[in-house]
Amino acid sequence: MMKNSIVISVLILCFSILVAEDDVLKKGEQIYTISCAVCHGLSGKGDGIVAGNLIVKPRDFTSGKYKVRSTSSGQIPLDQDLYQTIGFGMGHDNTMPGWSHLRSDEKEALVQYIKTFSDKFTSDEEVNIVPIPPRKPSTPESVNAGRRWYNDIECWKCHGMGGHGDGPSTPTLKDDWGYKIVPPDLSKPWLFVGGSEPEDIYRTLVTGLDGSAMPAIEGLITEDDNWDLVNFLMHEFIDQGKRAPR
Ligand code: HEC
Ligand code: HEC
Repeated sequence: MMKNSIVISVLILCFSILVAEDDVLKKGEQIYTISCAVCHGLSGKGDGIVAGNLIVKPRDFTSGKYKVRSTSSGQIPLDQDLYQTIGFGMGHDNTMPGWSHLRSDEKEALVQYIKTFSDKFTSDEEVNIVPIPPRKPSTPESVNAGRRWYNDIECWKCHGMGGHGDGPSTPTLKDDWGYKIVPPDLSKPWLFVGGSEPEDIYRTLVTGLDGSAMPAIEGLITEDDNWDLVNFLMHEFIDQGKRAPR
């Protein structure tokens, strides 16, 4: 008798969890249809009715490729990454608007709903979260060491020596979807898709922006060297422009 009631309680619990998940996805789908489908398309392929008019194309969610991640290149983003991108948007001049006015449960429902467009979220569960060590003080030595990395890793080939996005490789750059892509002027940090705080820059450099031409430098140089490079970018370009809070 006791056993039966335990089995029944477990079944009821499983059923309520399934119903709750279903409710979240329904809520996500509803908001998506009203607010997101116009650009990202009802099927999530990035083919909404206004997509043709946009220079930077809306993400095709079926590809499972995301630019802003705290995970290694090629891996799926964390729920928290998607949640933040939805809230912040991607850069102030960009066509991915921020949805900070949505309630947190609405943004969470959207995260769960957009994940259903790609199998990668069920097959690739293992991810490596890239550690971001504490900031290194920005001394002239650190900035100079960063300047050498900017030259040696050939960041300038795409970004130009002055950081204006006019390096020798720039005219040929394409994203993974075949569209022309131009690096932002590094002294206009409000254009950055992944934020412009030193920790944001560190994360963007180490993880890369998947799907775009911006490579990941994870494993190339040490964590200390990464901070030198960030200190150089902040000093030379980013702090020269007006940083907009993300
Ligand atoms: C006006 C068009 C437009 C609307 C509306 C829109 N987006 Fe986007 N979205 C974009 C564009 C364009 C990009 C690609 C930006 C880029 O790659 O720099 C994008 C990218 C994204 C990304 C990819 C982030 C990454 O790291 O690569 C997510 C997630 C996203 N949008 C979610 C949403 C959600 C959720 C909604 C609805 C609440 C929404 N978008 C509404 C245009 C739009
Ligand atoms: C092969 C070309 C290429 C190389 C090499 C390259 N980048 Fe980029 N970078 C890009 C492109 C393209 C973008 C714009 C990506 C986008 O908006 O999706 C970008 C964006 C950025 C951004 C802005 C990030 C944001 O959130 O929008 C920074 C900062 C940056 N790169 C720094 C660097 C540094 C430092 C290096 C060298 C370690 C480097 N890049 C190497 C092409 C390149």
